[in-house]
Amino acid sequence: MGFLCSLTFSIQFLLFFSSSLFTNCSTLNDSTTTHHHECHQHENNALLSFKQTFIISKSASYNPLSYPKTLSWVPATDCCSWDGIECNELTGHVIGIDLGSSQLYGFMDPNSTLFSLVHLQSLDLSDNDFNHSQIPAKIGELSQLRYLNLSHGNENTFSGEVPPQVSQLSNLLSLDLRGYTLQQLPYNLINHLQLKASTLTSLTQNSTRLEHLRLNFVTISSSLPHTLTNLTSLQMLSFRQCELYGEFPVGIFHLPNITVLNFGENQNLQGTLPASIGNLTNLALLALGDNSFHGEIPRSLFRLKNLEFLSLSNNFFEGELAHDMILKLKMLNVLDLSLNKLSLFSQNRDVNVTTLPPIQWLGLTGCNLIGEVPTWMMNLTSLYHLDLSQNKLQGEIPYFLFTFENLRVLDLGGNMLEGQIELEMLSKLKKLTILGLGGGNKLSFLEGKNTSNVTFPSQIQTLDLSSCNLVRFPNFIHHLQELTDLFISDNSIETKPSWLWNKTTLQSLDISNNLLMEEISPSICNLQSLVELDLSSNNLVGMIPSCLGRFSRFLQRLTVSGNKLIGNIPQIYVKRNVLRFIDFSSNKLYGQLPRALVNCRMLEFLDVRHNHFNDSFPFWLGSLPKLKVVSLRDNEFHGAIMCPLKYTFPHLRIMDLSQNGFSMKLTSEIIMCFKSMIISNKRQLDFKDVIHSDNAEIDIDLYSFSMSNKGVVMDYRGGQYLHQMVAVDLSCNKIYGEIPDTMGSLNGLVVLNLSNNMFTGSIPSSFGKLSNLEVLDLSLNSLSGNIPQQLTGLTFLNFFNVSFNNLSGPIPENGQLSTFDDNSFKGNKDLCGIRLLKKCEDHPKLPLQKPDDDQDSESGSFFELYWMVIVIGYGGGLVAGLALGNAFAIDVFRLLKKIF
Ligand SMILES: *[C@@H]1O[C@H](CO)[C@@H](O)[C@H](O)[C@H]1NC(C)=O
Ligand SMILES: *[C@@H]1O[C@H](CO)[C@@H](O)[C@H](O)[C@H]1NC(C)=O
Ligand SMILES: *[C@@H]1O[C@H](CO)[C@@H](O)[C@H](O)[C@H]1NC(C)=O
Ligand SMILES: *[C@@H]1O[C@H](CO)[C@@H](O)[C@H](O)[C@H]1NC(C)=O
Ligand SMILES: *[C@@H]1O[C@H](CO)[C@@H](O)[C@H](O)[C@H]1NC(C)=O
Ligand SMILES: *[C@@H]1O[C@H](CO)[C@@H](O)[C@H](O)[C@H]1NC(C)=O
Ligand SMILES: *[C@@H]1O[C@H](CO)[C@@H](O)[C@H](O)[C@H]1NC(C)=O
Ligand SMILES: *[C@@H]1O[C@H](CO)[C@@H](O)[C@H](O)[C@H]1NC(C)=O
Repeated sequence: MGFLCSLTFSIQFLLFFSSSLFTNCSTLNDSTTTHHHECHQHENNALLSFKQTFIISKSASYNPLSYPKTLSWVPATDCCSWDGIECNELTGHVIGIDLGSSQLYGFMDPNSTLFSLVHLQSLDLSDNDFNHSQIPAKIGELSQLRYLNLSHGNENTFSGEVPPQVSQLSNLLSLDLRGYTLQQLPYNLINHLQLKASTLTSLTQNSTRLEHLRLNFVTISSSLPHTLTNLTSLQMLSFRQCELYGEFPVGIFHLPNITVLNFGENQNLQGTLPASIGNLTNLALLALGDNSFHGEIPRSLFRLKNLEFLSLSNNFFEGELAHDMILKLKMLNVLDLSLNKLSLFSQNRDVNVTTLPPIQWLGLTGCNLIGEVPTWMMNLTSLYHLDLSQNKLQGEIPYFLFTFENLRVLDLGGNMLEGQIELEMLSKLKKLTILGLGGGNKLSFLEGKNTSNVTFPSQIQTLDLSSCNLVRFPNFIHHLQELTDLFISDNSIETKPSWLWNKTTLQSLDISNNLLMEEISPSICNLQSLVELDLSSNNLVGMIPSCLGRFSRFLQRLTVSGNKLIGNIPQIYVKRNVLRFIDFSSNKLYGQLPRALVNCRMLEFLDVRHNHFNDSFPFWLGSLPKLKVVSLRDNEFHGAIMCPLKYTFPHLRIMDLSQNGFSMKLTSEIIMCFKSMIISNKRQLDFKDVIHSDNAEIDIDLYSFSMSNKGVVMDYRGGQYLHQMVAVDLSCNKIYGEIPDTMGSLNGLVVLNLSNNMFTGSIPSSFGKLSNLEVLDLSLNSLSGNIPQQLTGLTFLNFFNVSFNNLSGPIPENGQLSTFDDNSFKGNKDLCGIRLLKKCEDHPKLPLQKPDDDQDSESGSFFELYWMVIVIGYGGGLVAGLALGNAFAIDVFRLLKKIF
């Protein structure tokens, strides 16, 4: 697994500190100040009354070096001598105010006397606590301003809309409205400021001398204005996490003096890197991580001798890179190429460079590294972050990795490494806080004999020993006093130690896929800091302790699927809980779904499939504002599906009700339960987007289908991002009547399965409007009439099945339907076409082969389509899914070729 959260944390950390390397713009001129002129009285008064609107509070500033500058502002002294005040030597007017990190707390008066200081050229109010004040519109009256810094490390600084009047500041050289944080996720920074796209455009039209424009964590929610590329003096552009989307203006890569380009974490920002990027000789920082850039990384990028920070992770970059190109970047400090479609060649031949770059951060998750851990890394002795997870590394872990005394993060998970790791080998890594050895390696982890008093590596916070051939819980874990995240899944552990439920520092605990055979003790509820708990795929027996619904007020994810648990699920879910993900699937649970689940206002995912729940349709879940996925598959739910007023399922993306006893006539009203699947544009469906704006940390990365045909289960790892998946599965129930036309309005649908019900009437021609549809299964009903010609326009359709109905007439010959063979159509005695035994000119009464009854009854349904969650990661990782990124459609296509 890639420990994404800490990665983001550390990059943030670096950005913050490296930014101070670049920033020294807020001092004007050389202040060899011998004051020729005393402060003007009205300016003196204005400053004093400004001071009086605030109190001093240490917690108002984030910077540990902050101090209260305004203490030196006392009446009857020359304001030009005050801390943070700069005057013009000749005129005596106040031209600079630097109150950055001054521990000011209070409201910013929209009519503040500050705005009477019309000679101001520089204003720095960064890192104070303005208690969510708005930035006053009067800021636009300070027309001489060249430097404006309202950046903040504090949650409570300015909020609301940035006033359009900032764009009147036509002399601006530097505008800094950034947010920053040094805190670890999931306590992520929340964007409090919004900047209208029109304001940004006016700003770029008016403030044509801009050199620094820094808007990290300011919500912009638009594409970037092309006028930005007119600002040829630009040196720094920082737009991290601004909800930008659309095409990245390529002209930005032609700005001649650019040194910092930070556009990370905008998700939907698209573009390619032009070869001309090699001409940006001053470029020191290029951060484009977590976006949708694509194409090859131009080789010219590796000519940039001043490049210190390069993060391109989690995009769609492709192509091949060789490690010696990277090693030519002489200043390189941070490199993150993780999670693209890159192949990094790193043969162990000698590196033809005399000195290696001072790399401290190396993120190469999922870069298709093949072979042994490259020996050139041996010389990167100052590394503090090394993530080589999710590659194809083989052989033993080289000893040199255990000598890097600065390492904080070592993640080798998800490779094919082998050999034994002994606890003692870690003894030099005194600073290690994150260690990942799990996830697919063939390593064996050995504790050695005398482990009762082992004191290293005591500072470990995150430990991944999944699939490390463990047969018992390593004892040293008992001594890790700071352990917050423990992943020990996929081993052969039969018992868990009694001390485990006393490790109250734990936030994530994953013991899934072991051989635990016990009952879940109620003392598990001692773990009151848990955010994520995964006990799935063991042999746990007995009842689920009732406290699990309410024991940790931080719990976001609860997974106990794939055990032998019996009884009811917890009935109590306290108000204001933060549960987002609940999976009770594949147990022997029964009873009703607790109505108290409506207290889970954050719930996004509920899976109870493959149990014995016996209840009516839980329409009341429809009031949960964020619910995206509901799976009730294979239970004893019954009665009618409905969604009365107020229960509208506003964010529903996947509803799987298959294999239950639902029985009713399908009406237009019922279909409106799924109206969140009607979309006006595709962006609206973007899970990533939704998750982003909710500031969420759970990534439900990837869903996968298994389809079974006559008992043969075809399993494959589809690459469909869940954030584009929209599905309704009503198969194997007793639903009857005609399929209403309105079903065709659910145009977001990717999968629609209505098979094995009692539908009559014809296939609605409105299905032709389901333009995103990739899977359509209507088999085993009593549908009649022709196959509508409109279906030929469903260009993404890769799975289509109307077999065993009473359809008649010719199969449309053109378009997508012509790619499906006999199996999709058989069992309709009056259907004809070139792919059927019965050609259309044949005699209409030619008997058709009967279906193979034995095999059909075996699986209950001819085609069974069911959902499998492959990768669900909470914040800290499991990002593998993103790396796999093949197009879903292609996978289904290949799969179908295999089936038939
Ligand atoms: C600011 O001052 C103007 C006129 O001086 C007044 O009309 C307005 O109400 C004041 N606004 C606030 C918020 O005090
Ligand atoms: C540009 O600046 C001028 C002068 O400050 C101002 O009058 C004008 O309104 C500004 N234009 C925009 C679009 O903000
Ligand atoms: C800026 O860019 C726009 C379009 O990108 C162009 O029309 C305009 O002439 C450029 N120059 C100025 C000074 O706005
Ligand atoms: C770029 O920087 C150089 C050197 O500082 C300066 O002379 C030049 O004017 C700058 N170019 C622009 C377009 O601002
Ligand atoms: C890079 O700059 C050189 C001149 O400095 C120019 O000839 C070349 O076209 C530029 N490359 C690109 C790809 O723009
Ligand atoms: C090593 O690099 C130097 C200069 O870049 C080059 O002249 C030399 O041929 C290279 N040697 C090998 C073995 O590639
Ligand atoms: C790497 O380290 C080895 C052993 O310390 C040394 O011989 C070699 O010259 C180093 N290579 C580089 C490129 O620094
Ligand atoms: C543990 O303590 C015993 C006795 O003090 C000592 O002999 C042994 O070496 C210690 N083991 C380790 C791993 O430090």
